[in-house]
Amino acid sequence: MAKRIIYEPSRTLMEFRLLPGLTTERSSTENISLRTPLVYSSEDRFNLNIPIVAAAMQSVSGAEMGIELAKAGGVAFIYCSQSVEAQSAMISRIKNYKAGFVNPRTVSPEMKIGKMYSIREETGYSTFPVVNENNEFLGLISKYDYDLGMHREATVGERMILREACEVGYNITDLNEANRKLLESHKSVLPILDSNGRLQSLVFRKDINDHLNNPYEVHDEFKRLLAIAAVNTHDFRVRIPALVAAEVDVISIDSSDGYSEYLQQTVEWSLSHYPDLPVIGGNIITAPAFRYLVEMGCAAIKVGMGGGSICITQEQKGTGRGLASSIIEVAEERDRYFLETGKYIPVIADGGVTSTKDITIALALGADYVMMGRYFARMEESPTEKIVINNRVMKPYWGEGSARARDWLEKRYYQAKFVEGVEGFVEYAGRLRDNLEETLAKIRSSMSTSGSANIKEFHENAELELISALSIREGKVHDIFIPGDTNNVDASHNYE
Ligand code: IMP
Repeated sequence: MAKRIIYEPSRTLMEFRLLPGLTTERSSTENISLRTPLVYSSEDRFNLNIPIVAAAMQSVSGAEMGIELAKAGGVAFIYCSQSVEAQSAMISRIKNYKAGFVNPRTVSPEMKIGKMYSIREETGYSTFPVVNENNEFLGLISKYDYDLGMHREATVGERMILREACEVGYNITDLNEANRKLLESHKSVLPILDSNGRLQSLVFRKDINDHLNNPYEVHDEFKRLLAIAAVNTHDFRVRIPALVAAEVDVISIDSSDGYSEYLQQTVEWSLSHYPDLPVIGGNIITAPAFRYLVEMGCAAIKVGMGGGSICITQEQKGTGRGLASSIIEVAEERDRYFLETGKYIPVIADGGVTSTKDITIALALGADYVMMGRYFARMEESPTEKIVINNRVMKPYWGEGSARARDWLEKRYYQAKFVEGVEGFVEYAGRLRDNLEETLAKIRSSMSTSGSANIKEFHENAELELISALSIREGKVHDIFIPGDTNNVDASHNYE
């Protein structure tokens, strides 16, 4: 017979509600800190300012998501189902973003305006610095300097603003100094040059304002955004060195079943070659698996199996567990491990976090932060194109175990006998920043209701209750007619 049979059904996040604790002035929403450890480390830079990260998936986490989410206080795990070069380039782009200093696409003075326009369309940039073959700065060209109809055949050199007419800065690394120069000069863009007149970066006034609007930004000791990359258990000997060269801050060894010797080999290889590079491991759903991973040196653990919105692992293999039950078992083990060793290993709730209340419940149950795919796939910053289906704006979303994503892996490593994920669409939700604002406001409000001023207190104070199917019905809008709402329920119900 089986080694273990659990008769208590496994629980999902949807089945719990929080009970209110005493709300104090200290725990009022404006006083709440959402800061949380990214990995176990003594270094202050390995903290998040919001407890939310984006999943390592092709349809979720490219460089743009990495930049925008790090600016907002979280991180995107850059996916590894792509070539080593492409993933390293994404990490470099995030690290070179340098909060306000842009590593620009340049053009030559001989280039035709028509050609430059096609680069503009491809990249979305409207201002280009003009440089010679030695990268010496010659001038700037922006959308105000030409008319495509009239100047298609003219050269950039004929239309650009010459260097003498541009305001430039030399060897500036401080954003405030760049800002002062921009303000004094009444210009909107400042090329930064080295002492030999070679172009280093551009600073845009709009980006400075943007930077000042990002008090939660997460960055390294040089004020560069944090960048995290996923790594598979196949090509790690090539991939990890390339990511390290691109200056990755943390890696996450990703496997749908992380309780394995393959994961161990990968983690041990990484830690023996790069002892200072923190490694996140996962995914697991039991206490012994947590022990196995932390004892090999993992500095944070991803928890969850079978719950992802695109996941069919439970149906295909019969393996998996409700995310709430997984978090409860692993968080208990994490606390036990902390008492024994003094090492606090963050637990990440991953897969099947479908709403803000799910995030809150996951945190209350003991997760230190949550990873989401579907939530971020809907945003402008995800790497996919919008598409209109039945008059609704959608974005495609597919699992890393779907045929579409596996294609890349299978061409190199193995032929999977079955898929573990599906492809579909999610409703477009607009900009990340606007969505996060609402999500974080709701999390703060729930924490305040429980009387917790930070996530550690939330773990200590939260009181939760399992609810019945009828309670779920009661918690939704009921017995009221709302014009235009397709979920309308019968409003003719009488009070007895
Ligand atoms: P979501 O937030 O519910 O959409 O779940 C995202 C999570 O699902 C990811 O972080 C992965 O852990 C997991 N996942 C991604 N792709 C697949 C797949 O194809 N099959 C099963 N799980 C997947």
